Amino acid sequence: MTTFQPGLRESATFDRNVIHEIQRAAETGIYDIRGWGAKRRLPHFDDLLFLGSSMSRYPLEGYREKCETDVVLGDRHAKYPLHLDIPVTIAGMSFGALSGRAKEALGRGASEVGTSTTTGDGGMTTEERGQSKSLVYQYLPSRYGMNPDDLRKADAIEIVLGQGAKPGGGGMLLGQKITERVAGMRTLPVGIDQRSACRHPDWTGPDDLAIKIIELREITGREKPIYVKVGATRTYYDVKLAVKAGADVVVVDGMQGGTAATQDVFIEHVGIPTLAALPQAVQALQEMGVHRTPGGVQLIVSGGIRSGADVAKAMALGADAVAIGTAALIALGDNDPKYQAEYAKLGSAAGFYDDFQDGKDPAGITTQDPELQARFDPIEGGRRLANYLRVLTMEAQTIARACGKSHLRNLEPQDLVALTIESAAMARVPLAGTEWIPGRATF
Ligand SMILES: Cc1cc2nc3c(=O)[nH]c(=O)nc-3n(C[C@H](O)[C@H](O)[C@H](O)COP(=O)(O)O)c2cc1C
Repeated sequence: MTTFQPGLRESATFDRNVIHEIQRAAETGIYDIRGWGAKRRLPHFDDLLFLGSSMSRYPLEGYREKCETDVVLGDRHAKYPLHLDIPVTIAGMSFGALSGRAKEALGRGASEVGTSTTTGDGGMTTEERGQSKSLVYQYLPSRYGMNPDDLRKADAIEIVLGQGAKPGGGGMLLGQKITERVAGMRTLPVGIDQRSACRHPDWTGPDDLAIKIIELREITGREKPIYVKVGATRTYYDVKLAVKAGADVVVVDGMQGGTAATQDVFIEHVGIPTLAALPQAVQALQEMGVHRTPGGVQLIVSGGIRSGADVAKAMALGADAVAIGTAALIALGDNDPKYQAEYAKLGSAAGFYDDFQDGKDPAGITTQDPELQARFDPIEGGRRLANYLRVLTMEAQTIARACGKSHLRNLEPQDLVALTIESAAMARVPLAGTEWIPGRATF
């Protein structure tokens, strides 16, 4: 560790991380791949504040007055929409990136508190189907692990067009994580690096998406909601096109969204922040008359959700629910300081470990190594996740009550102000202490 010395001046442009990356690239000749989401500071929910009640509005009393949290997802066309007790869902994370036990723990934790979990690239595991009361099955560009029987076993289908960490790009799963089981499910060779496709093989645009949605409805007897997931870029147009194609639920994943393994340059430089995408999505839904209407299209937002405040802010801006990936892994035990010595041996540290692609996760979560996996207890992991989800919900309820709301979905943009001009412009709420909302939508 370099210690500070007066007179040595660090360049803001070529800071020590930049220099380290140039040196690493020069040494190896390969680009940097890692997990997690964008690490740079971006305008985010932290830049917003709630206006709690005072004279002009009155709060609800926490001990006597209820603040409901349930949400129905997919009642536009599906015979069996999902009824969730809380509006915090578990995002799609692939088996391959995660161990089978981690998938089981996600199912246990989510089911305990009445919410859904999601498969990912690489297909549906028996562990997660067994433990998830509501399981969303991802239909991905790679088609790895895609199986019509599993489509029918799912409670909803999520067509993935992109992820916030890498819109326009595909993921990676390096050979060290491709065990016989992972390879078998993906019909790939064992131990060989693989890249997931960045676009679906059988379509070139939104008209093909409409056909795909019809096909999936037919395969599943029109019972299950069809979600469409996009990475946040041209969100206003993407949401309109997804709704026109027939989506029941739209999932918008901002650039802070986590990934299992992608090029660092992609994670940090492609896409727009969650905060910038969310109001665009809401505007698109409102203009199509499907935002928070019975039989409308629900909006799930993800990318950097960490606390009940984030949940409440996303809902105040118009999300019907949120999805969490990175925070769920941390709740399970990822980056736990008890493994500090082992993180150090891997050249990392607790709280910084993002080399999910290496498959050497000391916590046994982002690995397929039998010994490391065995360290992870899915029952304990599920208990921790359920606790965390309860805390997120209680925190969001606390804020909603303070704003006088008897349901989380009654939170509204008028409950929010922004701390910075950037966040005010992106979230389209006034700068704190003013009535000024900088900028206007130009599309
Ligand atoms: C380990 C890991 C694996 C992931 N695998 C997938 C995947 O298979 N399919 C997908 O659509 N998104 C995948 N994602 C992205 C998540 O579904 C979600 O969009 C993202 O994690 C949300 O942001 P957050 O991590 O800040 O909560 C993955 C994320 C992580 C952290």
